[in-house]
Amino acid sequence: MKVIDAWRLTLQSIYMRIFYSVSQLKKEAKAQGGHWAFIPTMGALHDGHLSLIEQAKQQNLPTIVSVFVNPTQFNNSEDLAKYPRTVSQDLKKLAEIGVDAVFLPGIQDIYPDNSSVPEVHLGSEAKNLEGFYRPGHFEGVVMVLRRLFSIVQPGHVFFGQKDLQQCMVVRSLINNEFPEIRFNMVETMREKGGLAMSSRNVHISDSDRINANKIYQTLIKMSELELNESEVLDLENELLELGIQTEYLKYVSLPSLGVVTTRAEANAVVFAGYLGKVRLIDNLIFKPLSN
Ligand code: PAF
Repeated sequence: MKVIDAWRLTLQSIYMRIFYSVSQLKKEAKAQGGHWAFIPTMGALHDGHLSLIEQAKQQNLPTIVSVFVNPTQFNNSEDLAKYPRTVSQDLKKLAEIGVDAVFLPGIQDIYPDNSSVPEVHLGSEAKNLEGFYRPGHFEGVVMVLRRLFSIVQPGHVFFGQKDLQQCMVVRSLINNEFPEIRFNMVETMREKGGLAMSSRNVHISDSDRINANKIYQTLIKMSELELNESEVLDLENELLELGIQTEYLKYVSLPSLGVVTTRAEANAVVFAGYLGKVRLIDNLIFKPLSN
């Protein structure tokens, strides 16, 4: 790193405030008067996360990013154990991009021993797809976001379209419980070959990465052509030949995420599956949802 870059980074790090305590952050949130643009993350930051921050910065709002690997949203303990944890690299990236504040809560800040966690009742948009294959996942997402939103008190939140169903669940959480927050969904960032960026991609080998690009090509094909059930099955078999085991590959309508049988009824096509032990999800919206 050149000396001048090192200095710039040091200066940015000085301006980036790091909050470890809820009370300190709540005080600051009050002073901000509900203007924060908030980007909640589980760390292992990649260009997809950075694009959410860029979008927030374009709105000239103070930006705050949280890094917290939320155990309650993992339905598989191996997945939780393997989830990449890279806090010092994350902080460096956040300082470089010029984030104003970072919240690094501990487990007790989010789930204090003495507090009862309110029950989570999810809408129909959370029931199928990820809701079916990852039981309890969205309940965990809603639990952590309720807590984070009430601590950070943001005016705007930014989420990536790669987690389309999560976006719909968060949209409905905000409509029902946090109407003061403006929800923003940001387009998926992709690697050169089309693979959607994800923190889990670090577990994919270079050769598997080439095969994984086929997922995006499959989504494009389904978004452009009206395919019947058996043609979709053929696409799943093509993926299988490359080692990709499909969980679902479906046309869906938005915002309900209901599965539909024809492209004509759909807004998007969604995919989830395994490449070896790595679970990948992706989607393509071809008929945008009007607000
Ligand atoms: O999308 C994620 O990284 C997580 O689901 C989120 C929104 C940070 C909640 O833990």
